Amino acid sequence: MAKIEKNAPTVEKKPELFNILEVDGVPLAVLSKELWDKICNFPARPDDLILATYPKSGTHWMQEILDMIQNDGDVEKCKRFPSLDRHPFLELKFPHKEKPDLEIALEMSSPRLIKTHLPSHLIPPSIRKENCKIVYVARNPKDCLVSYYHFHRMASFLPDPQNLEEFYEKFMSGKVTCGSWFDHVKGWWAAKDRHQVLYLFYEDIKKDPKWETEKILKFLEKDISEEILNKIVYHTSFDVMKQNPMANYTTLPTSIMDHSISPFMRKGMPGDWKNDFTVAQNEEFDKDYQKNMAGSSLTFRTEI
Ligand code: A3P
Repeated sequence: MAKIEKNAPTVEKKPELFNILEVDGVPLAVLSKELWDKICNFPARPDDLILATYPKSGTHWMQEILDMIQNDGDVEKCKRFPSLDRHPFLELKFPHKEKPDLEIALEMSSPRLIKTHLPSHLIPPSIRKENCKIVYVARNPKDCLVSYYHFHRMASFLPDPQNLEEFYEKFMSGKVTCGSWFDHVKGWWAAKDRHQVLYLFYEDIKKDPKWETEKILKFLEKDISEEILNKIVYHTSFDVMKQNPMANYTTLPTSIMDHSISPFMRKGMPGDWKNDFTVAQNEEFDKDYQKNMAGSSLTFRTEI
């Protein structure tokens, strides 16, 4: 295992963009209390498809898979806009956009695909009331932590992570945007018993993308040919998405995301945490993990 790099380079930070609102003890990247009130009153529609994740769990990968499914494998249609402009992020307001994504969602025609990083207990009540289908993607916490750390380095709207040791402490105590990874994955795991939630794992999709895509198709009650299914798997593979400017975030100004510091499509590989964790950190992590996940039936693979 590698030694930790001390105070690795980061993009120039823009503190005015770190809009953190604490809701029910969870730090959220929500612009204002007014926006939070609008989120709570968001009018979901029965045919909305919700994609929920903890940050860095493969949100944009799943977005691409769902977009390909909704567009019957039409690659050109899926390149109509960059990821951030194709589907709204319920609670976010991006620096390069004039209005919050929620307002954009209100003007969109159905069926909408809406992304969110909200924990299950904070999603707008209308999503449950309208019985919207929800796809949740969970990723093992070691890779999630490392990926989030590097994302903090390259995104100007996130605070400077200093170094992995500092970030490790913040992540483990839930003092990062979206709060505790443990609460997030466990909350959604419980939600799946009360609601239409397809709970998927990043590592499973990596290991067998075709099988997992078939699960999604079944959940969405959608039939497609074998040829289109293969096309979806190919188009959404890491190497292909990394080369696709509409999926790899390179259309954003470097003042928002600096890919020379760490690319958004970074490694995409389960087990990459081994390159950043020290032996001691790994041991400490495993102990904390056992404590935080005690009694849960959820299990994660930290490599494939
Ligand atoms: P790494 O930083 O480990 O490479 P999110 O979209 O939730 O922000 O997640 C980003 C993570 O998903 C990054 O992880 C990114 O590389 C990875 N990712 C994006 N597209 C992927 C794909 N097609 N296959 C595997 N991983 C992918």
